[in-house]
Amino acid sequence: MKKTIPISIFPLLFLFLNHVQSQPNTIGPNCTANQSTNSCQTYVFYRAMPPSFLDLANISDLFSVSRVMISNPSNISTPTSPLLPEQSLFVPIRCSCNTINSSITLSYAGLNYTIRSGDTFYHVSTQNFQNLTTYQSVEVVNPTFEPTRLNIGDVIVFPIFCRCPNATHIQNRVNYFISYVFQQSDTLSAIASRFGSTEQSIVQINGNNINPLDTIFVPVSRLPNITQTVVEFPRPPEVTDRKSVVIGLGTGLGICGLALILVCGVWYYREGLMKKRGREFRDEEKKKMGKGFLKGEEVNLMADVSGCLDKYKVYGIDELRNATDGFDDKWVIQGSVYKGCINGEWFAIKKMKWNAYEELKILQKVNHGNLVRLEGFCIDPEEANCYLVYEYVENGSLYSRLHENKTEKLSWKTRLKIAIDVANGLQYIHEHTRPRVVHKDIKSSNILLDSNMRAKIANFGLAKSGCNAITMHIVGTQGYIAPEYLADGVISTKMDVFSFGVVLLELVSGREVVDEEGKVLWVNIGGILDGKEERKLKKLRDWMDECLVNESSAIESAMNVMVVAVACLSGDPAKRPSMVEIVYALSKSDDLFFDVSLDGLSPRQVLAR
Ligand SMILES: *[C@@H]1O[C@H](CO)[C@@H](O)[C@H](O)[C@H]1NC(C)=O
Ligand SMILES: *[C@@H]1O[C@H](CO)[C@@H](O)[C@H](O)[C@H]1NC(C)=O
Ligand SMILES: *[C@@H]1O[C@H](CO)[C@@H](O)[C@H](O)[C@H]1NC(C)=O
Ligand SMILES: *[C@@H]1O[C@H](CO)[C@@H](O)[C@H](O)[C@H]1NC(C)=O
Ligand SMILES: *[C@@H]1O[C@H](CO)[C@@H](O)[C@H](O)[C@H]1NC(C)=O
Ligand SMILES: *[C@@H]1O[C@H](CO)[C@@H](O)[C@H](O)[C@H]1NC(C)=O
Ligand SMILES: *[C@@H]1O[C@H](CO)[C@@H](O)[C@H](O)[C@H]1NC(C)=O
Ligand SMILES: *[C@@H]1O[C@H](CO)[C@@H](O)[C@H](O)[C@H]1NC(C)=O
Ligand SMILES: *[C@@H]1O[C@H](CO)[C@@H](O)[C@H](O)[C@H]1NC(C)=O
Repeated sequence: MKKTIPISIFPLLFLFLNHVQSQPNTIGPNCTANQSTNSCQTYVFYRAMPPSFLDLANISDLFSVSRVMISNPSNISTPTSPLLPEQSLFVPIRCSCNTINSSITLSYAGLNYTIRSGDTFYHVSTQNFQNLTTYQSVEVVNPTFEPTRLNIGDVIVFPIFCRCPNATHIQNRVNYFISYVFQQSDTLSAIASRFGSTEQSIVQINGNNINPLDTIFVPVSRLPNITQTVVEFPRPPEVTDRKSVVIGLGTGLGICGLALILVCGVWYYREGLMKKRGREFRDEEKKKMGKGFLKGEEVNLMADVSGCLDKYKVYGIDELRNATDGFDDKWVIQGSVYKGCINGEWFAIKKMKWNAYEELKILQKVNHGNLVRLEGFCIDPEEANCYLVYEYVENGSLYSRLHENKTEKLSWKTRLKIAIDVANGLQYIHEHTRPRVVHKDIKSSNILLDSNMRAKIANFGLAKSGCNAITMHIVGTQGYIAPEYLADGVISTKMDVFSFGVVLLELVSGREVVDEEGKVLWVNIGGILDGKEERKLKKLRDWMDECLVNESSAIESAMNVMVVAVACLSGDPAKRPSMVEIVYALSKSDDLFFDVSLDGLSPRQVLAR
């Protein structure tokens, strides 16, 4: 049967074969059925993509691998962090040669996919798997399923196109064929240099008629290195003296702003681009951005932004505009904080300029029931605004409950619980964060009350991490600021203790911290605790909130709280108790209130050091 072919038609035959191969091959690469030689570990190149594939968990589920199996080859240090749109990933797959029937053998990695509502072969192939397979191939591989009659929960095998090198390839140092979907903006030479391959070898394997959205196989000897083009926020500067603090603050905030602009700029720019003109300029843009980052001489910004974005949802500015009717005044809660409804849930949305970084960084570290939770953020590069989105706390601020709501007065029991909640929140940031966080602006308007009247500390806008620092830029609220901070700018946890003492006075007295004549509440407060027991009780009764006077045993409990407050207000920061001691003393006071007979330690004894 077989005849020797005349040498002269060899080139023709070659051309012919080439032509056949370059016909649109919709069901995937064929292979010679030899499982033992045609099964291999290889990789696909995958792009992180909104809405569902911006975290490794979702992508690893899709490919039935663990997150680390993706993060390692993709050079991602924190597998739990969210990804940026278009971020490059290498996902490992097990490629093999599969016999469909006597005439078809296909090379693919079969991935089980459970059909969800709205899924079609076409949609899952083109969106979830980003054209690494085709719906035609899915149909061939799943002959028992009717493409138009899929049920939710059906498990479909999606054939991810791949190829395994044979002995000849390995001899030529081709150890992997990376499955890559050719993009509109791609050129063979760009792909070759990106993957450490050559144009010639790509053409040899894939033919020379490569169309956009074809899956091609890029021959490489080793998995290329990916340098993730993302930004790292700088660590807080080590604060040692005045000068470095000021410089540190300056660069810190500057870099924060820059980083946020860049990150979000990339995001928005790409979103816009993708909508407008596809992905034509992506690679060039990436390069440009990369250069921009590198220019920040002393600070290496090129690393992992995800550390900062960890846990947060990134909201679109339109989402927030819709939620607040375009930031309508009627939704203002206080200052620049708006109430907004997103997907049927209420949030508090704080609008700020590019100074959200410290707060973002600090809130990321803290997680405590007595601190307001940050849900996400949004950047609006056009107006240079930054928005922080917090959980919405129903009952407003302690300030408005104490001083503005004249009808519903808080009971002593509630006040005591609030004091303990705030103390717990402060104890947490002072003792359980590294470096310690100082809130710097503890006051009743920064204490929010939830539906159960449990308190949460809000507004970490002025907070600083790192202790015993000094600043020349005094911020805070009159009536709450510790005297040593006003005088020397010394930042320490003890300044929060002082402010907390003022809040205790507010709770006991129901008075504002600065009265109409400008007199500050905490001045001369010690006088109340002078003299004999009976005299003290009388003075306290005169001074405390009238509505509490008739509550049984409120006075004894309030007296204990006053002892704590006065200790907190000591002029010498070193003499003020720590939050740990305060929590203990207040809890004791709480016990006393409910079990007056208990004649245990007095707060004064507890506070004695
Ligand atoms: C695929 O099939 C074509 C002809 O049907 C053949 O020429 C080609 O070599 C096959 N490719 C592989 C990888 O087996
Ligand atoms: C499969 O490959 C092995 C090893 O190269 C070889 O010994 C065997 O004959 C092949 N089988 C088929 C069916 O080609
Ligand atoms: C992961 O997938 C779920 C639905 O499958 C989606 O709700 C969620 O937003 C996805 N997560 C991310 C970060 O894309
Ligand atoms: C897909 O499902 C089949 C049958 O349940 C199972 O044998 C196979 O291992 C699964 N494949 C993957 C990649 O999980
Ligand atoms: C896959 O290809 C289809 C057209 O065939 C296109 O609409 C879709 O955007 C592509 N998907 C991706 C992720 O590029
Ligand atoms: C093999 O499967 C393909 C696609 O399902 C079909 O078109 C073809 O007729 C089948 N060939 C044989 C010999 O069964
Ligand atoms: C490996 O595949 C190439 C085509 O890609 C073919 O030319 C070569 O002969 C094959 N080598 C072996 C040992 O099968
Ligand atoms: C990983 O990425 C970093 C930058 O994010 C880069 O400096 C490093 O060279 C990369 N490592 C590898 C092995 O590609
Ligand atoms: C990848 O990085 C390793 C070291 O991390 C280096 O030895 C190797 O040359 C790099 N490969 C490429 C293709 O850049």
